[in-house]
Amino acid sequence: MSPVRTPLSLRGCVGILLLCFLWLSQLSFSQEFQVPLKSEEIEAQDTVKQVAVIGAGAAGSSTAYYLRKYADYFSIPVNITVFEQSSYVGGRSTTVNLWDDPASPIEVGASIFVNINQNLIKAAKSFKLDLKDADSGVPREAVHGLGVWDGSKFVFLQRNGGFYWVNVFKLLWRYGWAPIRTQNLMKSTVNKFLKMYRWPYFPFRSLSAAAMSSGLVESTWATGAEFLRENGISEEFSREVIQASTRVNYGQNLPLIHGLETMVCMATDGAVSVEGGNWQIFRSMLDASRANVKLDTRVTTVQRNKDDTYTISHLADQKAMHKDVFEHVVVAGPVQFSNIQFSPAFEHIPDNVPYVKLHVTLFASPHKLSPKFFRLSPGASVPETILTTLPADLDLGARRDGVGPAGFWSISTLQKTMPPLSMRHNLTAGPHYVYKVFSPNPLDATTLSDLLDIEQIELFDNGGRNGMTAEASKTIADVSTAHISWWHEKTWNSYPYLYPRVTFEDVKLGKNMWYTSGMESFISTMETNSLAGMNVAALMLSEWASEFEIKMKSFESKVEL
Ligand SMILES: Cc1cc2nc3c(=O)[nH]c(=O)nc-3n(C[C@H](O)[C@H](O)[C@H](O)COP(=O)(O)OP(=O)(O)OC[C@H]3O[C@@H](n4cnc5c(N)ncnc54)[C@H](O)[C@@H]3O)c2cc1C
Ligand SMILES: *[C@@H]1O[C@H](CO)[C@@H](O)[C@H](O)[C@H]1NC(C)=O
Ligand SMILES: *[C@@H]1O[C@H](CO)[C@@H](O)[C@H](O)[C@H]1NC(C)=O
Repeated sequence: MSPVRTPLSLRGCVGILLLCFLWLSQLSFSQEFQVPLKSEEIEAQDTVKQVAVIGAGAAGSSTAYYLRKYADYFSIPVNITVFEQSSYVGGRSTTVNLWDDPASPIEVGASIFVNINQNLIKAAKSFKLDLKDADSGVPREAVHGLGVWDGSKFVFLQRNGGFYWVNVFKLLWRYGWAPIRTQNLMKSTVNKFLKMYRWPYFPFRSLSAAAMSSGLVESTWATGAEFLRENGISEEFSREVIQASTRVNYGQNLPLIHGLETMVCMATDGAVSVEGGNWQIFRSMLDASRANVKLDTRVTTVQRNKDDTYTISHLADQKAMHKDVFEHVVVAGPVQFSNIQFSPAFEHIPDNVPYVKLHVTLFASPHKLSPKFFRLSPGASVPETILTTLPADLDLGARRDGVGPAGFWSISTLQKTMPPLSMRHNLTAGPHYVYKVFSPNPLDATTLSDLLDIEQIELFDNGGRNGMTAEASKTIADVSTAHISWWHEKTWNSYPYLYPRVTFEDVKLGKNMWYTSGMESFISTMETNSLAGMNVAALMLSEWASEFEIKMKSFESKVEL
């Protein structure tokens, strides 16, 4: 089927053609007419574009990085300022230090990307960052590397090691052609997606139009459940394998999440992360962009002036308020969580999108996961990664509170490691396991003690760090260090509920005002937010290039005189 070209994507093509044309004409212009410029004209050409980017996550860092690249290529002077309210670069990709040891960072937000994520892969290479396999730390000492738990039993188990073809054969034996059909469906979806990086789809002023013309709207307008059914993928494989993946990646079941994001969950080839933390990609992008990066600086208001510039008020270190004027503003993060006052309001205000509240609990413990908790016989080996799904007879439909009887989305064993020397004498001897749990609610102490099979009596043997807390509301903080040697809890507005839809938030919110996070209702990943940033950079440049054309035309006519 040939893609439908909409007028909007045509406008994108025209923009690119214009860019090429302008670039060529600039070249020949500078070669053929080397006449001295008058001072006012020099001034006009030297006007530095003042750009503000709000947010130093994947989207904001990519905006700055690609804007600098494009602007340098076209020799357009630009001054980029990036405001970030946190004390670190990376936004939702960030690490915390195991045992507070800077030598042992762990991802607490976005942890993996895959080989089709070309912006991230290219950037990591060009910044010489080391990539490691997503599962490189897993001890692989259990019989099963992966298990899918429905709250009362494992419905799917995958052995550690073993031969690739044996695993494939077992899958086919159990699910028939469903795994292969899924693989093919995923590949054709990915191919449509990859078009969005290239002319004539890129840059896209309208994500809705790009989704339509690339054909991806076919997978966003249906739920994952519908999309899989329409493509002949069995209900059993969908629930036991694919839904386990949409739950660990997005905290959503197949009757809620749309088909495109479902396919993203199945595109796992070459899953990697950056040694030491993915945020380093974004730090390096900002360095390369030569932007003024203002950390610990929250943008409070963005005010549009009569001459279409913007005055940005920003609060540094929670005390010093400053104002600066910019010609272009990029809001590079969900506007609904930004607490920015816009005056006057946008011509077009992005919708409030419901986001998943995700609790991430990281902890280290000398204990293994309890076979009893998972209703296995004593001494049985528990899978190292536990994903979850719903039991066959429970249909929660599109409910947002869809975790079901399992009570959590996933538990992963990240690594098996010795505590640092300085701590060893205080902790239980021997290696400790490091776990990561995704859940819709905080883990309470009772669940933790069941999960690790700790005798209730020993649980709080140091009196509990919270002292007098009532038994029922004890948390991980109350558990004795003998059992939990280190922990970290974080609640995120992690990603939107990805309801089926065919239109997406606009990239341009008003004159010289840009927005990246409309992308998140389409595909919510580091890579796609980076693409959104790159797209905004290209659109900005195509606007500047057309301004240049007007200036050049008037100049040429003077020369002819
Ligand atoms: C637990 C978790 C796991 C995930 N796993 C993966 C994964 O494995 N792979 C993957 O690709 N993606 C994953 N994601 C999704 C991914 O993290 C996001 O899609 C991506 O990082 C978002 O980037 P962003 O730049 O658009 O937004 P953000 O990273 O949220 O950046 C926005 C920034 O703007 C700043 N900001 C907001 N308001 C203001 C203001 N008023 N003034 C100044 N600064 C402001 C914020 O502090 C923030 O740093 C995961 C997300 C979570 C939470
Ligand atoms: C760049 O922007 C900053 C505001 O962040 C401003 O203070 C500085 O003067 C600007 N520099 C130039 C060369 O325009
Ligand atoms: C370890 O224990 C000693 C004494 O028991 C104490 O002084 C020290 O603070 C403890 N160290 C840590 C890191 O908890």
